[in-house]
Amino acid sequence: MIKILCVCGARPNFMKIAPLMRVFRETSNLSTLLVHTGQHYDEKMSKLFFDELNIPKPDVNLEVGSGSHAVQTAEVMKRFEPVVLNYKPDYVLVVGDVNSTIACGLVAVKLGVKLIHVEAGLRSFDRTMPEEINRILTDSISDLLFVTEQSGVDNLKYEGINSDKVHLVGNVMIDTLLANRQKAEQSDILEQLKVEKKKYAVITLHRPSNVDDLGNLEKILTAFEVIEKDLKLVFPIHPRTKKNIEGSVLQTRVSAMSNLILLEPVGYLDFLKLTANAAIVITDSGGIQEETTILGVPCMTLRENTERPITCTEGTNKLVHVETQDILKHYRETKANAFESKGKIPRYWDGKAAERIVKVITGHWEGLQKRKTD
Ligand code: UD1
Ligand code: UDP
Repeated sequence: MIKILCVCGARPNFMKIAPLMRVFRETSNLSTLLVHTGQHYDEKMSKLFFDELNIPKPDVNLEVGSGSHAVQTAEVMKRFEPVVLNYKPDYVLVVGDVNSTIACGLVAVKLGVKLIHVEAGLRSFDRTMPEEINRILTDSISDLLFVTEQSGVDNLKYEGINSDKVHLVGNVMIDTLLANRQKAEQSDILEQLKVEKKKYAVITLHRPSNVDDLGNLEKILTAFEVIEKDLKLVFPIHPRTKKNIEGSVLQTRVSAMSNLILLEPVGYLDFLKLTANAAIVITDSGGIQEETTILGVPCMTLRENTERPITCTEGTNKLVHVETQDILKHYRETKANAFESKGKIPRYWDGKAAERIVKVITGHWEGLQKRKTD
């Protein structure tokens, strides 16, 4: 029996873990323990996704909550170690690039447990981004690295990671999108918000470089003040961003935008319905760049770089400098193209990534058993 301890902790982890938990549970010689670190804990940042995506209730919740990078990472490590010692897994599986990813990865390898990283190899080449450090470190200690796009394979090769460990399998986040697309169409969020298809923009912002830096946040909001005269803006606001706006002079400007619909974070199905039918998505999220590529919706990413370059070269994504005039220029260009954006679907983003992953893990485990008995 293969024993896999699966980890999730923050919002973007839940869409990635959902298809993996499904295929793991359908595999007869495999058992799992699901650990939620508690990095995200609000109902709308966590539990909602378990309910909507049929993710089994976590077997363990470490309830670490928020804190500085050091405090949060250390707290996850402290609380995760006894769980690993007790469960004695063959593998610990981590996804994405959040603090929970590296914290649990480190604990695993120090206890001699094999580490699996799903969404390996992505690089923004910007080490001021906390996620970039988490990615580099997690990849360097992983035994099996599952990659979503060719750039990831190339990055890992450049970093000297043995290619036997690296598998280009596609994108588990897209497995979730394709599995839920029809269900999301049933959502009545457009009616609730009184917005019409293709007559609004969806906004998400949470990168510290955009929302902790109030100068950058102001440049972005100044662009929104112009765009909202033309198009409704639907903005499910991340708790980090909400706290920053509430505590700042920008609050009154946000409140004064009459065409800006400010919401709590929304569930996966409502969000998918919103993005699928938007004229444009304006974001700094990682995962949303990939989702808009599949949906064929223009995406303006307010960042200087992306760790997901295929979304620009093949998909519908465009990086735009965090400057008011650049944002407005790109908005006007996209509008002039009738908010159309043609892209193609990246290789293996076909809804079957989790199935490919389970096959590789099973083969790897059988190889280990054979070596033990030889
Ligand atoms: C984290 C990840 C980031 C990911 C993002 C997805 C790291 C370093 N960052 O950023 O890579 O893109 O999640 O959303 O792991 N908060 C709440 N309720 C919650 C969670 C957070 O109010 O349920 C607030 C707290 O004030 C907290 C702040 O948001 O301090 C930031 O949370 P944190 O998990 O540290 O980072 P994110 O910005 O969410
Ligand atoms: N998402 C959601 N509701 C929201 C905003 C985002 O369900 O209000 C989903 C989105 O569809 C994607 C994921 O959250 O699947 C992306 O997470 P986030 O942007 O928080 O993190 P990142 O991808 O930047 O790490």
